[in-house]
Amino acid sequence: MITIHLHPHDTTQAARTLQALPGQSLMQAAVDANWPGIQADCGGLLTCATCHVVVHSDWQGKLPPVSPDEDGMLAFTAQTREVGSRLSCQIELTPELDGLQVTLPASQY
Ligand code: FES
Repeated sequence: MITIHLHPHDTTQAARTLQALPGQSLMQAAVDANWPGIQADCGGLLTCATCHVVVHSDWQGKLPPVSPDEDGMLAFTAQTREVGSRLSCQIELTPELDGLQVTLPASQY
């Protein structure tokens, strides 16, 4: 299992921890666990940008690079894109990502 830590945008709230299976996308794992804050309106088809997360700096280099299609969709996130912005449907969970830390944007719309 892979442990993921999801930090709310409101830093006064505690992070949530999720156990996920390798091969799942971060988005799917979050939706399956009924995590609030990741809407994923398109179901992972890379057409909605409502699965935006911000990957913490010490984890950014462990993820595959942003594809041209993901890069294009990151222009449509509700919250301004940050250095660590990614679409969680494009993050495939691998054992190397055990302990991954991400923060939710203030809003997905
Ligand atoms: S779920 Fe729609 S772009 Fe990720």
